[in-house]
Amino acid sequence: MRSKFTKLLIGVCASFALGAAASAQKFEGLAETPPMGWNSWNTFATNINEELIIGVADSMVENGMRDAGYIYINLDDGWMMRERDENGDLVPDPEKFPNGLKHLADYLHERGFKFGIYGDAGRKTCAGYPGNQGHEYQDARKYAEWGVDYLKYDWCSTESRDAVEAYTTMRDALYAAGRPVVFSMCEWGTAEPWLWAEDIGHLWRTTGDIISCYDCVQEWSMGWKKILDLQMSLNPGINGLEGYAGPGHWNDPDMMEVGNHGISDVESKSHFSLWAILAAPLIAGNDVREMTPQIVDILTNEEAIAMNQDALGKQGTRIYQDDEKEIWLKYLEGGDFGVCVLNASEEKRETTMEWAQFQNHFATWNTSYEIRDVWAGANLGTTDEHPEVTQLLEPHEVMLFRLNFIESTK
Ligand code: GLA
Repeated sequence: MRSKFTKLLIGVCASFALGAAASAQKFEGLAETPPMGWNSWNTFATNINEELIIGVADSMVENGMRDAGYIYINLDDGWMMRERDENGDLVPDPEKFPNGLKHLADYLHERGFKFGIYGDAGRKTCAGYPGNQGHEYQDARKYAEWGVDYLKYDWCSTESRDAVEAYTTMRDALYAAGRPVVFSMCEWGTAEPWLWAEDIGHLWRTTGDIISCYDCVQEWSMGWKKILDLQMSLNPGINGLEGYAGPGHWNDPDMMEVGNHGISDVESKSHFSLWAILAAPLIAGNDVREMTPQIVDILTNEEAIAMNQDALGKQGTRIYQDDEKEIWLKYLEGGDFGVCVLNASEEKRETTMEWAQFQNHFATWNTSYEIRDVWAGANLGTTDEHPEVTQLLEPHEVMLFRLNFIESTK
């Protein structure tokens, strides 16, 4: 007969093993398609408060963004006090959030949104607020208490901390707190998270910060075109990063600058099209309370969003590039394709997409496709009828097509 002590020991070991097994997985099923929402950083930096967030949420209901799928409303850096309280807890800044974060989360949840927050794996956040290092479990419990559904977890002041350890610790803390949370790893691609993060987070940043321009560079921040190029060059030897993305685990080329200063409407349309093709998280970063109708139309274009949210979860890749033109391709469900052709030159140009030239990429080319011009909202006929399509494109403008599989014809 086993002694009481042995039984106790077995019990303790079993629950420890169970706990370990349970915490060795992230929350599944939360980001089967790339997360969509809004984040405060790109436009407001640390100048955030309850009134702003409520205004953003109300506007997103009115302008159709929520119903188009943008359901996460995420606070970035600057929501908290400079010091933890006497219990070691993080404290929302009472001047910015006079009613606390639970109140804000309730407001958002009641309107069909989910609530996101920002933390940092180091001692301090990038704007100098308290980081989560050493407080992960305590903070994760607070997030759960407040009703947090999404955590963007940054990488400032981490010194020599190991990224895999740091992100695994926070994942396990979230898991232990028990509230399902989308875990957005903001490690800037430094330790190549695409190689190891699939089981830890739902999305991981691949580069330094995006800024509001086409291809400018400022220290480690850059315009969307530079970030786009990096998606193809960060993984030397293979194609790009596309092989690492899939349902529940996404490369994150950063939040969008669509509609922000420094980017024309044409460039906003191209930025959005290419983030759709990349299967990037679609996190808007503009002031959605004051948008032109053109920007609303871009952000809520159902067909571009459908390509981004396609259930296959394939990230698109660049299949052709010269000085003037780039062609990006995304495999879609049902044998369809997303095709984005960018005029990468500084001139207005007649730009041609010749389908047959790329037949190696269209796996079953003895088929016919219906050509849908997404931005024109028009069917152009079939690829048999139109072996190529030519359009006059502004500098940095795109054509965005969906090739709808019809049937084998040849
Ligand atoms: C880092 C991140 C940004 C933003 C700021 C906040 O730079 O990469 O996305 O969160 O910190 O301080």
